[in-house]
Amino acid sequence: MYSQGLIGADGSTVETEEFLEAFQKRVDAEQKIEPNDPMPEGYRRTLVRQISQHAHSEIVGMLPEGNWITRAPTLRRKAALLAKVQDEGGHGLYLYSAAETLGVSREELTDQLLTGAAKYSSIFNYPALTWADIGAIGWLVDGAAIMNQIALCRCSYGPYSRAMIRICKEESFHQRQGYEILLTLCRGTDAQKKMAQEAVNRIWWPALMMFGPHDSASTHSDQSMHWKIKRFSNDNLRDKFVNATVPQAEYLGLTVPDPNLKWNEEKQGYDYSDIDWDEFWRVVKGDGICNRDRIKARQKAHREGAWVREAALAFAEKRAGAADAARTAAE
Ligand SMILES: [Fe+2]
Ligand SMILES: [Fe+2]
Repeated sequence: MYSQGLIGADGSTVETEEFLEAFQKRVDAEQKIEPNDPMPEGYRRTLVRQISQHAHSEIVGMLPEGNWITRAPTLRRKAALLAKVQDEGGHGLYLYSAAETLGVSREELTDQLLTGAAKYSSIFNYPALTWADIGAIGWLVDGAAIMNQIALCRCSYGPYSRAMIRICKEESFHQRQGYEILLTLCRGTDAQKKMAQEAVNRIWWPALMMFGPHDSASTHSDQSMHWKIKRFSNDNLRDKFVNATVPQAEYLGLTVPDPNLKWNEEKQGYDYSDIDWDEFWRVVKGDGICNRDRIKARQKAHREGAWVREAALAFAEKRAGAADAARTAAE
């Protein structure tokens, strides 16, 4: 059933049954696939798409929170948020590097983001309206990211799985700083607690959307699981997230904005309402509150960073020229 293995391949790659079987055997034996190993074109393309979308999400993810660095209420909060946003930039860079090991260039990937050809996580198309949103984003959005990314630490592609290990350590700091912001607000005045509740009301559903469409509607899921790029299905991860997060909301004294949320003794997990899939697809297709602003902000950053790229290139050329001259002189 999986012997084709060509999600996005154009048919120009000849992949024999034996080749695909041998590859699958390696994956099944939990051997990591490394950049120079032979791999099906579909595997390579799936990873390029997934890793680059992930990298774009980290980079665009800096925007809603970066907007609050100057407005953080104390120096301690400012320092923590600054460190968090900087971590996200770092995650983007590791991930672009991991994607580059599969034969795409950084320029190509950046171009796909700036022209709107590439997707990134729809959550970052929602604004961070109040300081409490920064808490809710850290707790829920980074929390959802951890749930996804812990599973990716065991991804069959070596460079991606290794990048995830360090990223997850940093994500857990992000989640705690978010939770601590909300805990402080929830122990504060009525107005502060209300602000915390409103932030959770806004961010709960977009956070659940981060796990993607239902398994039944997820186009590439089966093949990705077979190749051990993905270890758990979207719905499975979403359930795990809800089960882990609801008790944390109770500890805060906040409610989750879902009248149908109910513990199900039999399945030992929560039942909850279905996501508003119309909203999900609308935002994914570019019509969320902030889609246009996010792309505009990245385009502006790219334009304004042109001189840095030019200077770095000129410096590298100069240094290479000096090294050549030194070598010639020594000969
Ligand atoms: Fe991150
Ligand atoms: Fe994060």
